[in-house]
Amino acid sequence: MPTELHTNFTGLDFVNPFVLASAPPTESKRKILKAFEVGWGGVVTKTIGLHPVENVAGPKTIYQRASETKPYVSRIKRPDTVSHSSWNWELISDQPLDLWLPDLEEIKTTYPDRMLIGSIMAGAGGEEEMDNWRKLATSCVNAGCDALELNMSCPHMDRKDMGAHIANDEEIIKSILKAVTSVVDVPIWVKLTPSSSSLVEGAAAAYAAGASSISLCNTFPSLPLMDPETMKFEVEVDGLVTSGGLGGLAILHQSLQRVSDISRAFPDKSISGIGGIRGFREAFNFIVHGAGNLQVCTAAMEEKGSGGIGVKLIQELKDDLSDYLQRNNYSSIEAFRGVARERIVEHSKVRRKSDDYTGGYAK
Ligand SMILES: Cc1cc2nc3c(=O)[nH]c(=O)nc-3n(C[C@H](O)[C@H](O)[C@H](O)COP(=O)(O)O)c2cc1C
Repeated sequence: MPTELHTNFTGLDFVNPFVLASAPPTESKRKILKAFEVGWGGVVTKTIGLHPVENVAGPKTIYQRASETKPYVSRIKRPDTVSHSSWNWELISDQPLDLWLPDLEEIKTTYPDRMLIGSIMAGAGGEEEMDNWRKLATSCVNAGCDALELNMSCPHMDRKDMGAHIANDEEIIKSILKAVTSVVDVPIWVKLTPSSSSLVEGAAAAYAAGASSISLCNTFPSLPLMDPETMKFEVEVDGLVTSGGLGGLAILHQSLQRVSDISRAFPDKSISGIGGIRGFREAFNFIVHGAGNLQVCTAAMEEKGSGGIGVKLIQELKDDLSDYLQRNNYSSIEAFRGVARERIVEHSKVRRKSDDYTGGYAK
């Protein structure tokens, strides 16, 4: 029986709109089965690819916490801190496609009512790479994936034809969608990088080429902090570091801005909101800007005793959303989805004390 938490997103029935994002919480069959057992409405698998993957010889993710006392933001364990962000330089899944496929099949057979979205990534340097997209897409869909999320946003690739590097290139976005939509018939979500200066144009290209939804945001390119006493970065290997991805609460407001930009440009299109969701209030904010689906990563990974999949978190998200819907007599999130759109305006449209301001232009 559908409840008020039920949502239809990109033609798929979600028992609730809360989805574990592509990341360590969805890196294995064991974790995904557990995630469904505890109530997540869907998962986007850790990104699956065909190229060689080898992670750095050190920690792949750190959790930074904020405090009223020095150091204000650090991974250093201290009393009375609250979560600030995750920082990671993890690559996509190192489990090969051949091992993923039977796992995907078992997951979908065990939980037919939960949405299984396969995240895939290949390159863009020619027809061979388009074949890789086609192979990944057909294999995942044949194994039971309800939808695909095309990773065009991984911030950790040296290859210039992969991940976040391609998100500025509308022709590449279109050619990848053409390759994928020519071989599968499921909804295609496209995960774009928030660091692109042409996000709206990238989203336009993706929607026009058949994307059912845009997923935003992947982590924001960033550097870890250096300790002034030790001269070490809070995460490094042999003294070296590289640009990694910031996630968690610290990216909430910037992620909302990106979702709002896309949602206002394409109000009739679907968007999946990601970035800094820790509870209902953050999820609510993505929904009022137009998101019809909510993805969570850092908060699930950080929940102690949950095996990194957010056991209490999903219960709380469902309870708080349900409570909010009932108190307001809303039948679903559709009742308030997108209501903030018209209230985001140009700076000069916000009332001044006089009527004279013209947005900085001379009269
Ligand atoms: C350790 C780690 C690994 C990740 N791996 C992937 C990945 O393989 N594919 C992908 O699309 N996003 C990946 N992400 C990004 C997340 O899916 C998500 O977009 C981002 O963390 C923002 O959400 P959050 O603020 O809830 O963490 C990863 C994030 C983290 C922290």
